[in-house]
Amino acid sequence: MTTFRQHWLHAAIALSILCWTPVEVNAAPPSSPVQAATSGFPLFEYESSHLDEQSLGNFGVRRPVLDSGECRTFPGEADWPSDQEWDSFDDLLGGALIPTVPIGAPCYQNWGVFDKEKCAAVTKNFPNPYFHEADPTSTMWPLWQGKTCLPMNNANGTCTLGGYPTYAVNVSNVAQIQHAVNFALTKNIRLVIKNTGHCYLGKSNGAGSLSVWTHHFKDIAFLPDYHSATYRGAALKVGAGVTVREVYNAAHQYGSVGFAGGYLAGGGHTPLSGLYGMAADQVLGFEVVTADGRFVTANETSNPDLFWALRGGGGSTFGIVTSATVRVHPRVKVVTSTFTFGVGPSVSNETFWEGIRAYFELFIPFTDAGTYSWYSINSTGGAPVLDMHPFFAPNHTIESFNQLVKPWFDKLQALGIPFTPNTTYYDDYLPAYNDQFGIKDAFGKDSVGRYTSMPGNRLFPRANWEDPAKFNDTFDLVQKHGEAGHVILGYHQAPRNRLNADNAVSSAWRNTIAFLITNAPVAADATPAQMTAAHEEINAILEPWRQVAPASEGGGSYLNEAHVMEPNWQQEFYGDQYAELLRLKHKWDPSNVFYATTGVGSEAWEVRTREQGVQTQNGRLCRL
Ligand SMILES: Cc1cc2nc3c(=O)[nH]c(=O)nc-3n(C[C@H](O)[C@H](O)[C@H](O)COP(=O)(O)OP(=O)(O)OC[C@H]3O[C@@H](n4cnc5c(N)ncnc54)[C@H](O)[C@@H]3O)c2cc1C
Ligand SMILES: *[C@@H]1O[C@H](CO)[C@@H](O)[C@H](O)[C@H]1NC(C)=O
Ligand SMILES: *[C@@H]1O[C@H](CO)[C@@H](O)[C@H](O)[C@H]1NC(C)=O
Ligand SMILES: *[C@@H]1O[C@H](CO)[C@@H](O)[C@H](O)[C@H]1NC(C)=O
Ligand SMILES: *[C@@H]1O[C@H](CO)[C@@H](O)[C@H](O)[C@H]1NC(C)=O
Ligand SMILES: *[C@@H]1O[C@H](CO)[C@@H](O)[C@H](O)[C@H]1NC(C)=O
Ligand SMILES: *[C@@H]1O[C@H](CO)[C@@H](O)[C@H](O)[C@H]1NC(C)=O
Ligand SMILES: *[C@@H]1O[C@H](CO)[C@@H](O)[C@H](O)[C@H]1NC(C)=O
Ligand SMILES: *[C@@H]1O[C@H](CO)[C@@H](O)[C@H](O)[C@H]1NC(C)=O
Repeated sequence: MTTFRQHWLHAAIALSILCWTPVEVNAAPPSSPVQAATSGFPLFEYESSHLDEQSLGNFGVRRPVLDSGECRTFPGEADWPSDQEWDSFDDLLGGALIPTVPIGAPCYQNWGVFDKEKCAAVTKNFPNPYFHEADPTSTMWPLWQGKTCLPMNNANGTCTLGGYPTYAVNVSNVAQIQHAVNFALTKNIRLVIKNTGHCYLGKSNGAGSLSVWTHHFKDIAFLPDYHSATYRGAALKVGAGVTVREVYNAAHQYGSVGFAGGYLAGGGHTPLSGLYGMAADQVLGFEVVTADGRFVTANETSNPDLFWALRGGGGSTFGIVTSATVRVHPRVKVVTSTFTFGVGPSVSNETFWEGIRAYFELFIPFTDAGTYSWYSINSTGGAPVLDMHPFFAPNHTIESFNQLVKPWFDKLQALGIPFTPNTTYYDDYLPAYNDQFGIKDAFGKDSVGRYTSMPGNRLFPRANWEDPAKFNDTFDLVQKHGEAGHVILGYHQAPRNRLNADNAVSSAWRNTIAFLITNAPVAADATPAQMTAAHEEINAILEPWRQVAPASEGGGSYLNEAHVMEPNWQQEFYGDQYAELLRLKHKWDPSNVFYATTGVGSEAWEVRTREQGVQTQNGRLCRL
């Protein structure tokens, strides 16, 4: 359980992908990426190098849509490209094709790179997100890779590719992405996209695939005077490989707060959601390679339907984003407060839960005041503890913060619960973010790379707070969950549509004031039957949460941090937007070049992994 908590601490999530619409290719001449003074989208240097319509005309004959039961090709199949074809492809890419060597391979004899010291280093670094980010194919949740090459002292074991791709393209320009899309399409190869590999559901994995690795698209440009029909002001154009932290740092340099995250594709919630809405709401435009290999702009006038879908419709579904342009907001002051309290000599279980209830009762005023929190309620040790880490109040002063939390803190005092809030004022967002979500002790405690828990989550709507009986039902579930010894990782936050953005962000996000994540434990060496049991356990935990906050009444689940086998995921993840997203999926990617588990339109496909007990990405991708 420590796992999840640390994650948030080090959240170094890269810019993810959204949905985009195709536009005119390539009319814009390459221009200097920095300090562009106009509203246009100057292309980054790596974007200037792309294929135009004429070269695209030379792309090979496209593979028709697969029939039911047909699969993407797979290594060993007769139609898998020959070594010679891979070599020619590598030449076309200027040598950017990397045959996958699993990150854990030095720990095994069978891969031919056994090295005891390297193995020790991999094992030590496995919890470090940057270690996985820097690797062309590694991802941070080995459960979905199939756990076929874990770093452990097991030289006689066997390391196989499992859900890792067969090859990755280390892209340094857009033309390479266009070639990769074309090659995958014409050769019937599964295509995946990896940015950081943070995905909780294994979407950046895929057995027998060709992967596009966007990590090196690190450019950032400040556009001081961007204007469109609906926005005039400063903007940042950020490359697809840039992480949230890097965006924040760049924004800070220009005296402002950037507001985009790698979470763009799925919506993206942030500590500023209560002021500005979701990260996806901040996007002004994308550059994107679409399923037909074209390089287009998606913004409010150019391919507006793709632009709509790319903001919330999920990663790896509508195209490969190469950069995003996002709004920049003025500097904002922040108050944070961290504290903890728990069951102890003077605090009974009952009193503890009264203190938690007093907190939950205030979610409406807390979110109305634009605040956010990230906390855990940990009952695994038998004595439940709340760890508020932190209460995050942008645009507040110490005085306004203290006034806001007074009803809760007074109640805690009246209940005799000892606690000592550490409340800090910052005159800017970045230092607050760095202190509270810092990377100081990121790798000392296990942060990623874990495979001993299976996550799931729920977005609870404000309506559950407005009706006292429903509030009681909701809170009873939370308390029962804790009393049963489970951990809750929670947020109070309300990313309402504050900028009035018309995009694909799930309706559940617009309604929510409480987001709860939990998980079921999984044995490190779980058998398929135990994997199935863990799935059943998380499903059983989530079921009453679904019932008290059904999608039909504004509830849902966040697609980026969800249980990969969430039933009715179309409605749960995408809410009211699903039907339109599916229509756009068919329009923009008719041959399904882009596939991601639980992605829009993925119900027409399966990754065959039934013998593994749960849905991993270690199997063949086939049309249903
Ligand atoms: C430690 C941790 C903390 C997190 N904190 C938060 C948080 O605070 N708020 C929040 O909203 N979410 C959070 N998340 C979830 C996060 O939003 C998702 O994991 C997100 O998918 C990460 O995107 P990525 O591009 O970095 O990851 P990847 O795993 O590389 O990619 C995720 C998905 O996007 C696709 N993709 C990647 N790049 C592109 C591209 N250029 N074009 C098209 N598709 C692409 C991939 O194929 C995959 O489907 C957190 C996750 C972790 C592990
Ligand atoms: C690996 O195999 C060798 C030779 O068969 C044997 O000596 C060694 O003990 C084995 N190591 C482990 C960890 O099983
Ligand atoms: C990927 O390409 C970049 C240049 O864009 C290069 O610096 C880096 O070494 C390459 N990485 C690998 C693993 O080949
Ligand atoms: C939208 O994209 C088009 C095509 O690239 C471009 O001409 C236009 O300036 C963009 N609009 C804005 C507001 O940037
Ligand atoms: C929960 O508490 C247990 C010990 O009681 C500890 O081992 C675990 O790391 C804690 N988890 C979190 C998320 O804090
Ligand atoms: C910040 O608070 C002030 C009042 O104190 C308010 O006028 C302003 O609109 C708030 N800013 C945002 C972004 O909500
Ligand atoms: C309070 O929090 C601040 C900001 O994180 C930190 O620098 C300081 O050391 C903390 N003080 C105490 C007493 O823990
Ligand atoms: C909700 O629960 C509280 C505390 O148990 C109780 O006092 C109250 O009457 C309940 N309200 C409703 C509408 O059931
Ligand atoms: C308090 O609740 C925990 C479960 O969260 C339980 O293990 C423990 O026995 C309870 N303590 C008392 C005194 O009831």
